[in-house]
Order: sequence, then C-alpha cells, then structure tokens
Amino acid sequence: MPIERSSRAPSPRLALAALFAGLLSGASACQTFARTDGLDISRIPQEKRSEYNLFADRCSRCHSLARPLNAGITREEEWRNYVRRMRRQPSSGIAPEDEDTLVRFLVWYSANRATAGGGEL
Ligand code: HEC
Repeated sequence: MPIERSSRAPSPRLALAALFAGLLSGASACQTFARTDGLDISRIPQEKRSEYNLFADRCSRCHSLARPLNAGITREEEWRNYVRRMRRQPSSGIAPEDEDTLVRFLVWYSANRATAGGGEL
C-alpha cells in the first residue's frame, strides 16, 4: 500500500520546484532594482566602479536607479541635498559617511552621462 500511494503522490521535487517558482515570482514584485536597471558597468571607468556600486546599492532600495540617473540634476549642492534627504528617510540604509562617495559619483555621472550610457535608460 505505501508503495502505491507514493507512486500517485506528486513528486516532492516538483512540489519544491513549484514552491520556488512561486517565491521567485512573488518576490520580483517588491525586489530592489539594482541588478536590472542601472548602468552597464563596462562603460564606467575602473576607478569609478566602487562608487557606482555603492550608489547602485544605496539608491535602489525604494525606487529604480533611473530615478536619480534621469533626474537631470547636475550641481553638486543639489545632489548633496538630494542624497541627504534620501538618507533621512526611515530605514534608508544610507549612512552619513556614504554621502561624500555618493555625491562624488553623482556629480561625475552628471558630467559624463553620455559616455556612461545614462542617455539610454
Ligand atoms: C528610503 C527610501 C529611499 C532611498 C533609499 C532613496 N530614495 Fe530617492 N526617493 C524616495 C522617495 C519616497 C522619493 C519621492 C519623494 C521625494 O521626491 O522625496 C524619491 C525621489 C528621488 C528623487 C527625485 C526624482 C524626481 O523625479 O524628482 C531623486 C533624484 C532621488 N530620489 C535620488 C535618490 C538617490 C541619489 C538615492 C541614494 C543616495 C536615493 N534616492 C535613495 C525614497 C528613497
């Protein structure tokens, strides 16, 4: 009897696969955008990549990276105001010591938008 029942029961492996598929599709609705909508890292100079990675991590938590990348902001003071405002949002995950690096990257990006691929977002 136990043998017959097990042959009719859905494969545990399939059940597990279905569970994972469900989890993945459910998760994608509220996941960060960091890996899908940022810049192409190969177009960012080597020395700017760690700054970019910090930006891609810290600024993708609540909205797409396209939001800051397409905002049309260029001035350093303006970027600093934005970064500070974002940092002060509840659970932003942005530390005060991240500010300088984030502003440096954003100012560089504003001046190098075309070569960094920003116009294609
Ligand atoms: C805690 C959530 C959160 C994080 C993290 C965050 N933002 Fe925001 N951001 C928001 C919200 C909410 C808005 C819309 C309301 C507003 O403009 O204040 C916004 C709007 C913006 C805008 C305005 C876009 C527009 O269309 O005018 C810019 C630019 C921006 N964010 C840049 C950044 C940058 C740069 C970072 C990383 C340093 C960042 N954000 C991280 C929540 C966040």
